[in-house]
Amino acid sequence: MAAGPAEALTDEEAMDFAVVLAGRGPVTGPNPRVGCVITATDGTELGRGWHRGAGTPHAEVAALTDARERGNEVVGATAHVTLEPCNHTGRTGPCAGALTDAGIGRVRYAVVDPGDASAGGAATLNARGIPAEHTPHGGAEALTARWRRAMTLGRPYVIAKWAATLDGRMAAADGTSFWITGEDAREHAHQVRGTVDAIAVGTGTVEIDDPSLSARPGGVEAGHQPLRVVVGSRPTEDAAVWRDENALRVDSHAPRDVLAALWQREVRSLVVEGGPTLLSAFLRAGLVDEVHAYIAPALLGAGPTVVTDLGIGTMTDALRGQDVTVTRLGADTLVIAHLPGGI
Ligand SMILES: NC(=O)c1ccc[n+]([C@@H]2O[C@H](COP(=O)([O-])OP(=O)(O)OC[C@H]3O[C@@H](n4cnc5c(N)ncnc54)[C@H](OP(=O)(O)O)[C@@H]3O)[C@@H](O)[C@H]2O)c1
Repeated sequence: MAAGPAEALTDEEAMDFAVVLAGRGPVTGPNPRVGCVITATDGTELGRGWHRGAGTPHAEVAALTDARERGNEVVGATAHVTLEPCNHTGRTGPCAGALTDAGIGRVRYAVVDPGDASAGGAATLNARGIPAEHTPHGGAEALTARWRRAMTLGRPYVIAKWAATLDGRMAAADGTSFWITGEDAREHAHQVRGTVDAIAVGTGTVEIDDPSLSARPGGVEAGHQPLRVVVGSRPTEDAAVWRDENALRVDSHAPRDVLAALWQREVRSLVVEGGPTLLSAFLRAGLVDEVHAYIAPALLGAGPTVVTDLGIGTMTDALRGQDVTVTRLGADTLVIAHLPGGI
């Protein structure tokens, strides 16, 4: 929906539009994608804005600025925001304060802010006599799902990704894994790399595969390149991953410490790409939110399996994914499964 400035919007249409605006924000980085539309009491749109990434104005401030630049008066107006206005001073000031100062009369927000520091904007607004109403919106929830889980858990959202044969092998007996899957599957994986803040592999994968860990959808370097992370202690100085300065070693075998180090670097989403030792450690620690398994119609009969011992002894304890999607990618099949509770 592309509402024009003079078009009157219902509350629902204004929030739909705010969600569209939110979707224009960057998918990576420490901040969520947020949109805001300000309407007059008759539904006329007065201002619109969205958050363009850390350090830039939040959506509410962008919408207030837009209204001012368009010469529109916002006193008594309604702000439709896809995320609860923040209540804290980070790189920018609190949005609850900006809305109050502008004289906004009413606020509707689609998603509750789970952040320890930033939450509470709605309570602040209500206490100031500006009704702030939570009106859930599926689109706004979907746009912020990974970010909200990361903020709730205080660690990056983790995707465990692998390519495997029908018999669950990640590599052949000689260690070769190029290429288990075909071009379509590899292209998909490059697209996913472009949507996260970091990619991690263990030193074993660096030693055997020497991956560059860059995002190259369509064979072209993506504008956003995730932080390349190597986990483990053995020397890997000559590896391709170090040719780019956007790379980091975490010398630890404790997945939780790896995530803490990445959190410090403002990483909010991570793909763990292997190998089996690192993937198993993250699964065993209950630190995987989503699995991306690319399955090739091939059999090897020998070679490392994707996952080693998870400490599961009986079928009823099996890790089972939810919200499963299955996608054919050429001859291969991608299975995406969510592990909402971790293990
Ligand atoms: N098909 C695929 O999708 C795929 C993807 C990646 C790799 N692979 C294949 O996987 C094979 C490599 O397997 P791998 O298991 O050696 O690779 P890996 O998991 O990448 O690396 C293992 C190394 O990481 C370090 N490490 C990090 N966290 C650890 C922990 N919690 N526990 C123990 N060690 C930890 C250790 O090295 P330090 O001693 O240095 O600390 C360990 O030897 C290769 O054949 C590669 O081709 C396949």
